[in-house]
Amino acid sequence: MPREQVREDLTPIAEKHVPVLLDAVLKGLNLEVGKTYVDGTLGMGGHSQCLLEALHDLGERSPRWVGVDQDARALGMAQERLAPRLAGFETKQHTHFVQSNYSEIPEKLPDLGVTGIDGGLLLDLGVSSYQLDTADRGFSFMRSGPLDMRMNGTDDEIPTAGDILNTASFEELCRIFEIYGEEKYAFPIAKAIVADRDESPWQDTLDLAKLVERIYRLKQKSGKAKEAKHPATRVFQALRMAVNGELEHLESTLNTLPTLMQAGSRVAIITFHSLEDRLVKQTFKPWLDGCICPPQFPICTCGKTPSFKTVNRKPLEASEAEKEANPRSRSAKLRVYSRL
Ligand SMILES: C[S@@+](CC[C@H](N)C(=O)[O-])C[C@H]1O[C@@H](n2cnc3c(N)ncnc32)[C@H](O)[C@@H]1O
Repeated sequence: MPREQVREDLTPIAEKHVPVLLDAVLKGLNLEVGKTYVDGTLGMGGHSQCLLEALHDLGERSPRWVGVDQDARALGMAQERLAPRLAGFETKQHTHFVQSNYSEIPEKLPDLGVTGIDGGLLLDLGVSSYQLDTADRGFSFMRSGPLDMRMNGTDDEIPTAGDILNTASFEELCRIFEIYGEEKYAFPIAKAIVADRDESPWQDTLDLAKLVERIYRLKQKSGKAKEAKHPATRVFQALRMAVNGELEHLESTLNTLPTLMQAGSRVAIITFHSLEDRLVKQTFKPWLDGCICPPQFPICTCGKTPSFKTVNRKPLEASEAEKEANPRSRSAKLRVYSRL
């Protein structure tokens, strides 16, 4: 797509995107002049725009900021959106837009002259409203489009949602829907997918959405209360997580944090799925604890000290007003940790 067209078509979408839990994220990151901040899921640049504004208000003249997204189109939009903001600083020589998976941040930062993160890292997981609303990306069950769902949009090595639906075994499909989607009808949905693909391969998002609706209608004809969410929500979410290896990238990134984050820095992670939240909580747990000697030991012999502390005792959730105004925030949970 020509660059001019990208600007014309996509910038208004970027401006419509509302960042989730914005105040809590900015407060949690405890912004300070002269420190480096990395937004690992830049998306529409909503959080980063406000982060840069807040740094400017604190007196920052030359922000040290890196915005990362694996989606080239999202990155282009964020770049356009943030350009006026960055132009308001004396210099933007320490600001960088990087198209990459956030799991590659530790390898990318040294090339930018950044040896570690002494300010903060933000991960706002999942897909953006732009990705959901763009039919040709295949994330939406409301719009006809190819069953693609690759967040980076281009990597031919990554099987698309269609590839998975057309080649995975029945057992594998059940596993994806059950584990990533917590889908109660995983079994009949997987069975119908496998049966239908013998007649013609899966290609279109709406065909898959219709199949899931059909299964729900069959299973729920006894007049059960209607689902609050569209029946295809969980199947689409599960496929998206499988296509993009979302839990795997999150897990490998979390494991780099003790090395990547410098003393006093903050990590803010917004999750939208209980599996993601559990992974974050369980990964940090041993880092929050000090001594691991058995309680009967009179003195500590392990010498272990905590490497992080939690900034909020419980994960933060959106207020009722935010949930009302921005439905995407309904399942959001924010955990913030400080590197000791
Ligand atoms: C929820 S949106 C972020 C929205 C952003 N905070 C804002 O306020 O505009 C998530 C973004 O993260 C990107 N993303 C998700 N997983 C990623 C990964 N493993 N590596 C890099 N980017 C990723 C998606 O492409 C998407 O643009």
